[in-house]
Amino acid sequence: SVVLLWLFILLLFFFIRVRRPKNFPPGPRPLPILGNLLQLDPANPLKDLERLKRRYGNVFSLYIGSRPAVVLNGLEVVREALVTRAAEYAGRPTHMMASHIFKGKGIIMANYGSSWRDHRRFALTTLRNFGLGKRSMEERILEEVSHICTELESSAGSSMDPQHLFHLAASNIICSLIFGERFEYDDPVILTLIQRLDEFLKEALGPWAMLYEIIPVLRPLPLPFRNVFHKFDQIKEHIKKVVTKHKNSRVAGEPRDLLDCYLDQIDKTAEEGSTFNDTQMVSLLLDLFLAGTDTTSNTLRSAMLHLMTNQHVQDRCHREIAEVLEGRADASFEDRHAMPYVQATIHEAQRMSDTVPLSVFHTTCSDTQLHSYQLPQGTTVIPNLSSVLHEEGQWKFPHEFNPENFLNEVGEFVKPEAFLPFSAGPRVCLGEGLARMELFLVLVTLLRRFRFVWPEDGGVPDFSLIFGGTQSPKPYRLGVRLRSSERG
Ligand code: HEM
Repeated sequence: SVVLLWLFILLLFFFIRVRRPKNFPPGPRPLPILGNLLQLDPANPLKDLERLKRRYGNVFSLYIGSRPAVVLNGLEVVREALVTRAAEYAGRPTHMMASHIFKGKGIIMANYGSSWRDHRRFALTTLRNFGLGKRSMEERILEEVSHICTELESSAGSSMDPQHLFHLAASNIICSLIFGERFEYDDPVILTLIQRLDEFLKEALGPWAMLYEIIPVLRPLPLPFRNVFHKFDQIKEHIKKVVTKHKNSRVAGEPRDLLDCYLDQIDKTAEEGSTFNDTQMVSLLLDLFLAGTDTTSNTLRSAMLHLMTNQHVQDRCHREIAEVLEGRADASFEDRHAMPYVQATIHEAQRMSDTVPLSVFHTTCSDTQLHSYQLPQGTTVIPNLSSVLHEEGQWKFPHEFNPENFLNEVGEFVKPEAFLPFSAGPRVCLGEGLARMELFLVLVTLLRRFRFVWPEDGGVPDFSLIFGGTQSPKPYRLGVRLRSSERG
């Protein structure tokens, strides 16, 4: 029977021809079942997408298995879809593994509708300080920054791998905001949660998950891709325990964190039809934790890599920071307006870090158009943010690290329209404000206090990025020097 199955698959390859819908964007010819997957390097498809863009133009199509997807390249096209035609392009796929894991709950994978809208509004307002209790977002970030400094001080004069530290720090900031507590860097509770998430992401990006995507008939079978669902359930159980602890210790109307605010919200909107409930709450908490950890920590690691290998940029940032903060203990986010060079450097680091290169996939909510093409409702849309962040004609130095990309002739900070690391339109990253505040406060505090150097035994710096759910630099060692001891 196995032989018959293979024969059947081979016949499918020869006799079924995949046809693009009428007036659909052009693209490479797909194979039955596999679509165009063999034409993309699974380790990093970005170069292949660049090649296809040069051949077919800024809007082209690809088949992921037997389903067509449209790839959007360059600022003009991405903006036309996500901003000008916002409502038509704001959906999320419902047929992918991520859709089945998240079941359309929470925010990230929720379809464009009332539950997504209610939860997005709730999370944004709560994070913007209208309900975080006594301590603001800024204070919570600064608290974590002081722990990062203590940890780095213990490596002063030598070098360390910053991956673990930045990951835990980013996760602590999110934990502090949503669960009201941070964890010591060796706390087993948070280490277990992070390890589970790591295992989950590895499985979710692995070959079995790919098989799940491209051959839907296999989905009900007990194959190893079931592990991804199992790992996700374990993480959910972990969050549910935190929720129970909160329920037992909360005082209604006196929230300590976003979780308490949500419980208050459930009380307030208990009437029929409300989209706030326990299941949605767990999904929202998970979304924020998942979306807010790797993204920020990978960006910080990229920033450090570029700063270490560009001492003149680091020194100029240090001088500007020292001048603006003279006599003060801590930086505040407001200080960014007085630090044009630092702002330009952080934005440039974020551009080069290219952390979420293909955004989160969208889908069309109705039949729609783009340029002269027709896209049916439900088409998967892949915004290639990486193509915008390095688009020739949009940047003075599209392919190299240079803060001049964000400075005008008189040294003022300017943000080009093509700066879209957080995407654009109604689905723009919900954590943009938080991430920008974190990057600013962490980097300003660290550059004020330390000088970071490429260690003598560090080999040749490698700026290539590892492609995955989010892109990250390869592991490296950070040489740490205390500025004060250098002056002394
Ligand atoms: C969505 C980037 C940090 C929460 C997104 C998207 C991108 C992105 C590209 C997809 C937008 C789209 O679908 O068009 C980044 C980058 C970050 C970062 C580069 C850090 C440097 C954060 C943080 C949080 C967060 C700290 C936590 C609060 C979210 C959520 C969504 C999202 C909830 C889904 C929004 C929706 O579907 O409506 N992010 N993100 N992100 N991000 Fe971030």
